[in-house]
Amino acid sequence: MQSLSRVAHVAILACFSLMFITKGVSTLVSKNGLSNYSFPDKFMFGVATAAFQIEGAWNEDGKGESMWDTYLHKHPNFTVDHTNGDLATDSYHKYKQDIIMLQSLGVKYYRMSISWPRILPNGTDHYINKAGVRYYRKIFQELIKAKITPVVTLFHWDLPTALMDLGGWTNPKMVDYFEDYARVVFSLFGDMVKTWTTMNELHVHCYNGYDLNAFVPAMQSHGIGVYLCSHYMLLGHARAYHLYDKEFRPKQKGKIGLTLDVFYAEPKDSNNKEDVEAAERYLQMHLGLYAHPVYSKEGDYPALVRERIDNMSRTQGYPRSRLPVFTPEEVEMVRGTSDFFGINHYTTVLASASSMEPGWLVPSLDHDAGVKSEQDPKWPIPGAFWLAVYPPGLRKIVNWITNNYGTRVPIIITENGVCDSGGLNDYERVSYYNKYLYQLLLAMHEDGCRVEGYFAWTLMDDFEWSDGYTVKFGLFHVDFNHPERKRTPKLSALNYREILRTRRINFNYIKMPSYKYNNL
Ligand SMILES: *[C@@H]1O[C@H](CO)[C@@H](O)[C@H](O)[C@H]1NC(C)=O
Ligand SMILES: *[C@@H]1O[C@H](CO)[C@@H](O)[C@H](O)[C@H]1NC(C)=O
Ligand SMILES: *[C@@H]1O[C@H](CO)[C@@H](O)[C@H](O)[C@H]1NC(C)=O
Ligand SMILES: *[C@@H]1O[C@H](CO)[C@@H](O)[C@H](O)[C@H]1NC(C)=O
Repeated sequence: MQSLSRVAHVAILACFSLMFITKGVSTLVSKNGLSNYSFPDKFMFGVATAAFQIEGAWNEDGKGESMWDTYLHKHPNFTVDHTNGDLATDSYHKYKQDIIMLQSLGVKYYRMSISWPRILPNGTDHYINKAGVRYYRKIFQELIKAKITPVVTLFHWDLPTALMDLGGWTNPKMVDYFEDYARVVFSLFGDMVKTWTTMNELHVHCYNGYDLNAFVPAMQSHGIGVYLCSHYMLLGHARAYHLYDKEFRPKQKGKIGLTLDVFYAEPKDSNNKEDVEAAERYLQMHLGLYAHPVYSKEGDYPALVRERIDNMSRTQGYPRSRLPVFTPEEVEMVRGTSDFFGINHYTTVLASASSMEPGWLVPSLDHDAGVKSEQDPKWPIPGAFWLAVYPPGLRKIVNWITNNYGTRVPIIITENGVCDSGGLNDYERVSYYNKYLYQLLLAMHEDGCRVEGYFAWTLMDDFEWSDGYTVKFGLFHVDFNHPERKRTPKLSALNYREILRTRRINFNYIKMPSYKYNNL
């Protein structure tokens, strides 16, 4: 059964690719369409997913509820299409198919996450759900059999509801609970998993979930909860790092790091000093806030962020800064706690200075940052409104990270990708990956940035948080009306496979069919 369906998948891929090898459109590189630079053989190419977005089986085999389960059951209209993650792509039952798809792409790395409440149903380690443990051990075994290295995130947003009921990441005790969970996971899976990321996208998680009401928990503790969340996540991350480093690394010999996220910010007018400062402030408030404590030589929050939030808090009459303060011991504890710089990047904004914009709350992270962000109308927007295509942004953010934090640890692009409205002929996604990956090659070869890996977001169309199933990011199409959640490769899957095979970008590999796509 398994090997048959494997052949079927590979056959589909082969036949599609024959149909689409044709002459080219791109003027980026040489006439035959092939990039002049290539990715090194040991460059880590993979794809990424997250447990809540694909697993489904929300209450099966002893799994506890995550805050996303509970919240979406209570507020069905929170997602734009009133859907939830109860079934998602049903990967709890279809993980073997997923692994066959990974093999057909030729990826050697798979970034996935563990659902905390599937292992610890009520969040704490007094009780371990054995069926959940079996599920992940089977996935890791199958991946290793397929010669695919698992890269595993401990926390990709699906907090156990029992811990959310105690305040989620605004609760200082979360630092202990996360360390306890990490110990369970390292003990159970560390024989097979050698690359860990503790947490995914601290900025998006705390900003959308605790400052705004865009993601669960929709706390709307604007300007306050958002920084408690950031602070205790950083401390939790650091504790898990040290736990691994001291108790597990000597035997298990793996790596452990952190995944942050950022949109790149360009000054709206690069000749305007205030816009230039605003762009830098945007990057510091969205990325530096999390990266500086971990990756800078001196540790702690960046001086600019510290001063700005302290000033704002004072002016607003708060008795102390809304941004918590690390003790000197904590600064030391957090500093240097990552073996790589994991960064998720999708898009860019144009920044200008502003003290107030419609929709900003006071206080809030936006108001503290004081940056108005817009998109350049020239940038294509193939799917969700926030994701405008600007490929040089990837090269620039990789350079910004290198300039700020040096090359002590390698950069890994842990997510990059684009959404559209769906379908198999996803020319916009093909173009996006070609151009963003070419910019990454330029960052590596021309700028000397130390980039060692890249993960496409995402393997297949999935549950995209508050967008439900309305936006599609997959290399594989998933038929959500089909009881089997049938998966089919898109053109972008063929294109990605070819990039991995040749280590180069062939801009002519998939022919762009009509004038409609000329601006890609
Ligand atoms: C590769 O192409 C880029 C972009 O056109 C160019 O800047 C670079 O000099 C080329 N490098 C080599 C080694 O040909
Ligand atoms: C969702 O439903 C709740 C109560 O049923 C209502 O108060 C709220 O305005 C609705 N939200 C949206 C976005 O429709
Ligand atoms: C989890 O919490 C629920 C609700 O408090 C309780 O009924 C259940 O027994 C708990 N399960 C475990 C394994 O502790
Ligand atoms: C904070 O306030 C001080 C004193 O008012 C001022 O000198 C400084 O420039 C402010 N810093 C920031 C980052 O706003």
